[in-house]
Amino acid sequence: MGTNGSIPKLSGQRGTYLRNTWYAAGWADELGETPQAKVFLEEPVALFRDGDGVAKAIGGRCPHRFAALGDGRVIEGALACPYHGLRFDGAGACVFNPHQGEAPPKVSLPAYPLIERYRLLWIWMGDAAKADPALIPDFAWLDDPAWEAVRGATLAEGHYELYTDNILDLSHANFVHPALVANAFTIGERKFWQDGERAYSRYTRENDYISPALAAVLGVEGRKQDYFGEVTWHAPANLFFDYRSGEPGTPVPEMKALLSLHAFTPETPDSTHYLWATARDYALGDTDFSEGLRSALAFAFEHEDLPIIRDAHRLMAGRDFWDMEPLVLSGDGGGIRARRLLQKMIKAEAGDA
Ligand code: FES
Ligand SMILES: [Fe+2]
Repeated sequence: MGTNGSIPKLSGQRGTYLRNTWYAAGWADELGETPQAKVFLEEPVALFRDGDGVAKAIGGRCPHRFAALGDGRVIEGALACPYHGLRFDGAGACVFNPHQGEAPPKVSLPAYPLIERYRLLWIWMGDAAKADPALIPDFAWLDDPAWEAVRGATLAEGHYELYTDNILDLSHANFVHPALVANAFTIGERKFWQDGERAYSRYTRENDYISPALAAVLGVEGRKQDYFGEVTWHAPANLFFDYRSGEPGTPVPEMKALLSLHAFTPETPDSTHYLWATARDYALGDTDFSEGLRSALAFAFEHEDLPIIRDAHRLMAGRDFWDMEPLVLSGDGGGIRARRLLQKMIKAEAGDA
């Protein structure tokens, strides 16, 4: 896998992916003047902003000696290869050749539809003619000034569906995250279902202790609360977690909410771009609150979830999940639905082609 700023080892296409769909490609404000070299679905991609500041995504491998174009720089609105200086525009056409007496070669790199929305860049790795921006899942709260978000981005070793499983089965919190333990996840009321191309896990628990770290953040340490949590999976791997808690008897819509995004974009079959954010509509501008929340969540995701999933992925040794006949436990209702739905969608798309 690539560490941030480096290209992972690629050895032919090994994975199968849903292609006609939007993947989160990164936080929009992290793409500034410096282009980025990334790999999505095992394809090299260069991200950059053109002369108008519009974010563009083109094939990331230079057709000359195959340098990573995303390691280049933008000159007069075009992306210049870091190796011998050919320049490409946002449509993937070579527009400048610095070598004497030569016109720009007539080559064109793939150009991927890229949309800036909800503070994220969304990339479409499939048939560009089908790239309908209306299909981007609704994460409007991410750029709603009524909500203040903390966030992170990391490159995580492991197959992206293992990361999806993790969010759709919150029972793991009681074993992996000492600060997030809550009865709601294991002995609370749980419901798992699917609706169209979405899968859901819901946890409710009345009059019990919520996770100690969240109780501290919310100022309700030692007090029993009502709890409601619902995870929505949008294919292929963009998840929304609606967390709410309040004094016993508080109706769900009036509870204090923490809204989270967990977006997983496959880099390779062995590595995943992980973007996360959590927002609240209270304590706005309170930097101590933000930092407490950010550091607790970053620690949970990056230092508690990641090593477990990384090692599980290594122990799977490239074998197929279903071929390994995994045990199914009562908390798996969301994850299994998401896996089956995605498998069906990938098959249907391959049949279309
Ligand atoms: S490798 Fe890009 S110009 Fe030579
Ligand atoms: Fe976790």
